[in-house]
Amino acid sequence: MATDSRMLCTALSDRLMSAEDAAALIPAGSTVGMSGFTGAGYPKAIPAALADRIEKLNNAGEEFRINIWTGASTAPELDGKLAAVNGINMRLPFQSDPICREKINNGSMDYIDIHLSEVSQYAWSGFLGKMNIAVIEVTGVLEDGRLIPSSAVGNNKTWIEQADHIILEVNSAQSAGLEGMHDIYYGTALPPNRKPIQISKPTDRIGKHYLDCPTEKVIAVVESHAPDRNSAFNPPDEISRRIAGHILEFFEQEIALGRMPKELLPIQSGVGNIPNAVLEGLDAGPFKQLTAFTEVIQDGMLAMLKSGTLAAASSTAFSLSPTAMDELNNNIDFYRERIILRQQDISNHPELIRRLGVIAMNGLIEADMYGNVNSTHIMGSRMMNGIGGSGDFARNGYLSIFVTPSTAKNGAISAIVPMVSHVDHTEHDVKILVTEHGLADLRGLSPRQRAHVIIEKCADPAFRPALRDYFDRACASGRGMHTPHLLGEALSWHQRYEETGHM
Ligand code: COA
Repeated sequence: MATDSRMLCTALSDRLMSAEDAAALIPAGSTVGMSGFTGAGYPKAIPAALADRIEKLNNAGEEFRINIWTGASTAPELDGKLAAVNGINMRLPFQSDPICREKINNGSMDYIDIHLSEVSQYAWSGFLGKMNIAVIEVTGVLEDGRLIPSSAVGNNKTWIEQADHIILEVNSAQSAGLEGMHDIYYGTALPPNRKPIQISKPTDRIGKHYLDCPTEKVIAVVESHAPDRNSAFNPPDEISRRIAGHILEFFEQEIALGRMPKELLPIQSGVGNIPNAVLEGLDAGPFKQLTAFTEVIQDGMLAMLKSGTLAAASSTAFSLSPTAMDELNNNIDFYRERIILRQQDISNHPELIRRLGVIAMNGLIEADMYGNVNSTHIMGSRMMNGIGGSGDFARNGYLSIFVTPSTAKNGAISAIVPMVSHVDHTEHDVKILVTEHGLADLRGLSPRQRAHVIIEKCADPAFRPALRDYFDRACASGRGMHTPHLLGEALSWHQRYEETGHM
């Protein structure tokens, strides 16, 4: 062990090895639980070494594929590299990698898209089969073998408990100051033995700073030094600024009506440029001492913590640009006081989200005039990323807000359609829909009332006549006035775009 090593457990020193040697311990056909959540805390050296090994085998005419389970999306060094060498047989529960996406959509990779809060219960219940090996990035290993988690907790606790064998990647590029930021809860159980989770505000700590790790299961320890993916966000454009403006105005109205306190309710914000811009908008607004109960801390939230707009944030991972990552690392003591990183079955826990009254803000691909939302599929059959945590938060939140530009592909495609080509969030879960044109408050409205509000407030003016025309003809058909539809035509609305060659 080097003197500056973060691997302090002498009982494991005989298992220190290169990434190549560790990758060689992963058998073909195995199920591997890897750390990683939204581009943070994923192993870097071992997947790369495994991809090199697979490539050599492929060149020798041998196939080598494994099943990969993670917390959520990872990065090109993991998903991209392993998908590129056809090394992934089954992937779950979330991905956002272009090469994975291509393989999933051409049928050469199986993918199970699961609510992120539920993965751990699936694994514990045995619905997913056996996990052979866990490959977990950590910030350090203590003398007694306990692990300092890294920039994402995700499903690591469950993977460590479930896997037959464990491989640790100790990444010294992760800030040592992360130690103490985590809250790992060991009280979870399967029904009927579940107990209430004692979190009544986002800042409550109920667990330990460290991950327990049975050292006898550890078969390899690899030391690495590589940063998380950390891609930069686009600066907010006019569309996202207008979306943020509508949401701010709505919050002020809700406070004035006495429906929310002036500190709002705990916020959740999905990843992406628009949710990040909404956070920037919130930071510029009059709000102070807000809290977040979310799954990802991105640049906007870090800035809100710094300015005092946000008092504290509970999450399972970071997803930061390089500049924001520097800000975090340079001021880690400040942020450690204000951030709690939990495992994803707690950060996304439906009961906690409902009880805390979270304001959920997520993106979408398309919404229909009745309020159903498609977050995952292009044209009903091609996977984009996955539902991620959006279902956990949208269904259980106090306010479920969905944000989107009113059109995609430079105005060629309307994000508001008669009938979504795939449903992730039903009309019963979607409370507020926002585009740059306006905000539709769907609470307390019948389907036909919703259609009117969504078309007039959210649809792009260029598409409004066609949407109105569809709605009027569907109503005139007299086939069913609760949710009027012309089924054949509703679906051909989507085909029209395919024919333009835009998708
Ligand atoms: N038809 C066809 N393509 C569409 C489309 C539509 N109606 N709407 C968007 N797209 C395309 C965009 O053109 C873009 O494609 P490109 O990358 O080739 O340019 C892509 O879909 C992403 O759209 P974008 O406008 O950049 O949205 P985004 O980055 O805000 O992502 C989701 C939107 C829905 C894909 C994203 O929010 C997501 O994956 N959600 C599910 C997971 C989630 O919400 N997790 C919650 C907590 S992190």
